Amino acid sequence: MTPAYQRIADDIATQIRSGRIAAGSRLPSVRELAAQHRVSVATAIGALRTLEFRELAEARPRSGYFARLPPASAPEPPISRPPARSRSVRISDVVAQMFSAGAPRTRSPAPLGAALPDPELLPTQALQRSTARLARTAPRLLSGYGSLEGSPRLRRWIAARYLRSSTAIDASELLITNGGMEALQLALRAACEPGDTVAVESPCYYGFLQIIEALNLKACEIPTHPRTGLSVEVLERVLTSPTGRAIKACLLCPTHSNPLGATMPDTDKAALVALCRQHKVTLIEDDLYGELQYGERRPLPLRHFDPEGEVMLCSSFSKTLAPGARIGFIAAGAHTERVRALKFAASVSTAPLMQEAVAELLEGSLYDRHLRRLRAACEQQVQQAMRYVAESFPDGTRVAQPSGGFLLWVQLPEGANTLDLYRRAAAEGLEFAPGPLFSSRGGFADSLRLNCGHRMTPRIEAAFRRLGELAQERS
Ligand SMILES: Cc1ncc(COP(=O)(O)O)c(C=O)c1O
Repeated sequence: MTPAYQRIADDIATQIRSGRIAAGSRLPSVRELAAQHRVSVATAIGALRTLEFRELAEARPRSGYFARLPPASAPEPPISRPPARSRSVRISDVVAQMFSAGAPRTRSPAPLGAALPDPELLPTQALQRSTARLARTAPRLLSGYGSLEGSPRLRRWIAARYLRSSTAIDASELLITNGGMEALQLALRAACEPGDTVAVESPCYYGFLQIIEALNLKACEIPTHPRTGLSVEVLERVLTSPTGRAIKACLLCPTHSNPLGATMPDTDKAALVALCRQHKVTLIEDDLYGELQYGERRPLPLRHFDPEGEVMLCSSFSKTLAPGARIGFIAAGAHTERVRALKFAASVSTAPLMQEAVAELLEGSLYDRHLRRLRAACEQQVQQAMRYVAESFPDGTRVAQPSGGFLLWVQLPEGANTLDLYRRAAAEGLEFAPGPLFSSRGGFADSLRLNCGHRMTPRIEAAFRRLGELAQERS
């Protein structure tokens, strides 16, 4: 549940943004707000401070809080316009060079590259405690493989969680996987044969492209809007064209996507499910960022619009709990039998000790409290990063407006080359993800993705600003 102070702040923010509360007008006093909403004075102060932090209110000494116009932000990048073509993908070498997990480094770079929340924002100690206790008290979690499909308790928790978003997933169709990556890999293998084409967002998460490459599939990029995600209209056109015949799956991140932070409106999600069913294209939904919304309501997954269970939903706890636990899952619906066989061949099972430790943590009350804090931190960090970009990056820079998560997609003025910028930045110990990583055709050379998962310490702020200076040098 959203805390009361945030609900009140969200409500007033909507009124300011829509003009119902005029800029410059006085907001209710702390006491008036507390009485209106029947909350404590501390909650009312929390709401007003939140508005101040969002730059929607200003405090004037001895006069109270006043509404402000929302801060001017850089314009959004336009919808992408990739050619409607299937192509083979060669991306893994570049990705490996840039993010070799665990590779020894001479200096620790400012963490604006890989998509990760600040370790300080994760409940690592609680997970440490349950892992240590379970390792001591339940040695069978180490002396056996565990079951193919994974911990019944964890699968029940996941099914119950989706029910909270009116999405019926049966625990029996769930398989626990080694992170989201294994879930996505199993889903694509279940849906496609080598040589088939997969429709993806443009730009899309480079991990999708890595799997497509590894499985000898082809990618067809579909125009994607930085706020509303994949264009269902264009996908429909492509599916009815000669290119469309080779498309066997559509793999996308419809909620708070990586790298754009886009969320498809419910009507588009419903239309996409219907379109894919009509054309016998398997939909694979990556819901990794689904619970990291800034607004009040967690957006509905595609699976909500698919009572037949044809959509395969993949996710993990890497962005919300512990990337190192490597606990992900797939709700494979109609494809469950095939996915089970593939999982057995791929990895037999997922580490039972980590599954139980994660299940124990999720079942307590800590997780929801933790998520509320994490969401609020992500929103604040992304807003601060937007401010640094507006202040330090070249004039003409465009910035996406994410609806959740902690990633920021930035488009530099025409002619910029972010692979070149990457090399110059890396030499100074700065990291980010250059745009061409997110494309099967080396597109988005003028764009980059910034990880805003870390708290804005002076070091991180300096990294954003220095990156802006380096971008200025070439523009
Ligand atoms: C959209 C998306 N899907 C999947 C993954 C991989 O998830 P995991 O670390 O759980 O394997 C990531 C990680 O960055 C991601 O951003």
